[in-house]
Amino acid sequence: MLVGVGLGPGDPDLMTIKAVETLKRADIIFVPGRLASDLVEPYGTPHILEFPMTRDKDILQSHWEHNADKVAEYARDGLAAFGLIGDPNFFSTFTHLSRIIKLRHPGILIETIPGISSITAFASRTNISIDTSFEVSDGSPVNDRIILKARKPKKIVETLRLEGFSDFILGQRLFSDTEEIITKTEDMPGTGDYFSIIHARKQRD
Ligand SMILES: C[S@@+](CC[C@H](N)C(=O)[O-])C[C@H]1O[C@@H](n2cnc3c(N)ncnc32)[C@H](O)[C@@H]1O
Repeated sequence: MLVGVGLGPGDPDLMTIKAVETLKRADIIFVPGRLASDLVEPYGTPHILEFPMTRDKDILQSHWEHNADKVAEYARDGLAAFGLIGDPNFFSTFTHLSRIIKLRHPGILIETIPGISSITAFASRTNISIDTSFEVSDGSPVNDRIILKARKPKKIVETLRLEGFSDFILGQRLFSDTEEIITKTEDMPGTGDYFSIIHARKQRD
């Protein structure tokens, strides 16, 4: 099994208990760089994987494949952790790595443990409070939208369809005993919980 472990923004006190426990239990820990390595060090031996900073697609692909095969070697029969800065599902090395592992080693189970991302860490450090809609961008086209307080899931999905969104996930009471995750559009309820989020995605070209 492979677990992407969010290590938070860099302060060791901002790592979650679950992240620390997973690092301690892991048979091997991989990291993409020095900052993640320093955070992991108290809980296990970090192995730094090299991800070269180049635009050469062939060099990049061969490094990605080499790293994916190396991680898969351990994740096939044991617990391999991949620790990274912030959250593993937001603009993360882990997204690319897990995509290649899924293609080359389809049997390996992959999970993630959320970490405090730079987005919420930034708000805390700078006293910026956000309570209306906002956009996060790395300069690429906007393909995703997240709707908080999704009390009317069916209606929200219908409206977003008209804007070109095609894939939807509703998460209610996430990480609680009554968690509910709905992925089929036809199963979207008319009325949802206050603790609900919808993720909408456009098809990419
Ligand atoms: C590859 S992304 C990683 C994002 C990370 N997975 C997250 O959830 O925050 C790297 C970018 O995240 C932002 N970032 C990450 N940690 C940061 C920090 N401690 N302070 C400021 N920006 C940070 C910067 O914009 C940086 O270029």
